[in-house]
Amino acid sequence: MITLVFSACVAGQLVPCGCSPDQRGGLPRAVALVEKMRQRDPGLLFIDAGDLLFENPQRPPAQMLTQRQLKARALARGDELMQAAARGVGERDLTLGPQFAQETAGKVPLLAPGQSLLVREVGILAAAEPNDFAAAPELRKKGAKLVVALLHPRGDNAWTRAQAMLLQAREAGIDLAVLGRRDDPAVDGNLKEAGPPPLLAIEGHMQSLLRVEVHPGTGPLQLLPSAADRDAEVHGLQVRIERFRAQIELYPQRKAQLEQKIAELEGRQKGLGAEAPARPPPGAAWADAAFVPVTQEVGTVAAAQKLVDAYDEKVSEMNLAEAKTQPEACPAAARGELSYVGANKCAECHEAEAQFWQQTKHAEAWQTLVTVRKQLSLDCVRCHVTGWQQSGGVCRIDRTAAGEPGFNGHAVGRQDVQCEACHGPGSEHAVDDTGGHIKAEVTETVCMRCHEAANSPHFEYTKYKPFIVGPGHGEPLARGQEPKPRPGGPPQ
Ligand code: HEC
Ligand code: HEC
Ligand code: HEC
Ligand code: HEC
Repeated sequence: MITLVFSACVAGQLVPCGCSPDQRGGLPRAVALVEKMRQRDPGLLFIDAGDLLFENPQRPPAQMLTQRQLKARALARGDELMQAAARGVGERDLTLGPQFAQETAGKVPLLAPGQSLLVREVGILAAAEPNDFAAAPELRKKGAKLVVALLHPRGDNAWTRAQAMLLQAREAGIDLAVLGRRDDPAVDGNLKEAGPPPLLAIEGHMQSLLRVEVHPGTGPLQLLPSAADRDAEVHGLQVRIERFRAQIELYPQRKAQLEQKIAELEGRQKGLGAEAPARPPPGAAWADAAFVPVTQEVGTVAAAQKLVDAYDEKVSEMNLAEAKTQPEACPAAARGELSYVGANKCAECHEAEAQFWQQTKHAEAWQTLVTVRKQLSLDCVRCHVTGWQQSGGVCRIDRTAAGEPGFNGHAVGRQDVQCEACHGPGSEHAVDDTGGHIKAEVTETVCMRCHEAANSPHFEYTKYKPFIVGPGHGEPLARGQEPKPRPGGPPQ
């Protein structure tokens, strides 16, 4: 048996931001997971399918450059810690040019499209287009028992484009194809297609690793449905059964019809449970592929944690030093453009709203960063302050507290998610006696500038909004009532 473990499209994500407690991923956990697998199976090969170093192929803005470079270096070191046998080179690795990728690779061999490598009995090649499969027969001649292609199709819809390459992959003698690039590494999920050759896509940001156990034999490699696949199917049926049960309570008149559906689904569940695990025909080549989530339960490895801590420390230091060379304030607003004035100004006329706001989580957003010592990270500040890189806002990481004193430790300078993060810059409104020039309605789109799928996976406007509006803010105060948000937080 040959065991291969893959990561793909880590896309510059060293650790998740911690914005949501159940975020998966992170180098220290991934290293721990690979070590654990290696203890069980010392011969396993770890392969990084590519798109490791940067979030996207475009050169980062000047202010972000140092931080992104440091992070890419830490990620490249991480691949060394996992003793990667090879790393694919995708567009997200070439953001700062091929030289940077090469220079940071350390002991890990790089495979750009068209290049190939034989490691023990496994041939590995990288391909952006079918022509790049040409190395496969050569690898076979040199003794490869298994030929794996790391796919980096160009353009959008990577999965569909990879599917379109499968026929040629098969003709070239590829046994297994792993997609190295995802359109959106934060949200594109794990995918499997039986092939031949089997095609596998791993979710990005190191949220999962892929383990493939290959049993060499004759004929094209067959992907067997794994126990995990079956569990997932059973679970999916269970979710539907529970939904129907809940509907019976809501619509008693449909009870009979719903119960029939439940019985049918339960029958299918039983069938799945009873089915003997699929068996390959004797002598055939087959593989079992499982996506392993990189969760907190996996634990961490000290050497990898040290790498992350050193990165954090260095980033803070360098960002602070660089900030000192930048202008103190953001550029002034162009004529006719609005600028940020800060929450102290708003509170002068909207006392109830300010009292309400300072009891919401948005008023804690800065303290949250300080608590995890990330207040000097350019990856974090933009959503935890107000008016980042906007006129009247804050442009220097060491100047977030500049401006008005805030109230009760909240809204100091431009820290926290202040009024204007939702209502827009208020320079005109604050001097308009009629109350014009401000966004009264705050739509979902505004929230989603910060509540992205990656850091606020449970965000739903209707579930979240009741915790930021209420008596005193968005709803009238009854006589004698204090402005106060409802207790608790949105259901997860
Ligand atoms: C794209 C915007 C965005 C960025 C960038 C961002 N955050 Fe957040 N953060 C949020 C949002 C939105 C929430 C609230 C999520 C929720 O509860 O649904 C949050 C919540 C958090 C929380 C949890 C607070 C609590 O009360 O439990 C922590 C910790 C945190 N962020 C830290 C960070 C760190 C560290 C970084 C940088 C590595 C970062 N954030 C970058 C938007 C962001
Ligand atoms: C000089 C006093 C003053 C200041 C300062 C001020 N506002 Fe207002 N605001 C008003 C008045 C007056 C109205 C209209 C009456 C009302 O709804 O209370 C208003 C209305 C609003 C409305 C509702 C608009 C509508 O059409 O219903 C919002 C939202 C708002 N203000 C936000 C802000 C924000 C954010 C700030 C800080 C940037 C701010 N205000 C600063 C006086 C002020
Ligand atoms: C400028 C970025 C930003 C915008 C815009 C924003 N939020 Fe947030 N939101 C955050 C951050 C950051 C946190 C986490 C604060 C903390 O706990 O440190 C958060 C937390 C929350 C929470 C608390 C979540 C919890 O788990 O308790 C709710 C509710 C919420 N936001 C709702 C909204 C809604 C609704 C909107 C739009 C009307 C919105 N937010 C707009 C950044 C933003
Ligand atoms: C997380 C986003 C968010 C933040 C932060 C926020 N608001 Fe609002 N605000 C809303 C929403 C949502 C409404 C209700 C209107 C709607 O449904 O679109 C609202 C309504 C209002 C209104 C009109 C109703 C009323 O209460 O008179 C005012 C005025 C207002 N906000 C002022 C403020 C001020 C002042 C602050 C800062 C102290 C602030 N808001 C902070 C989202 C926000």
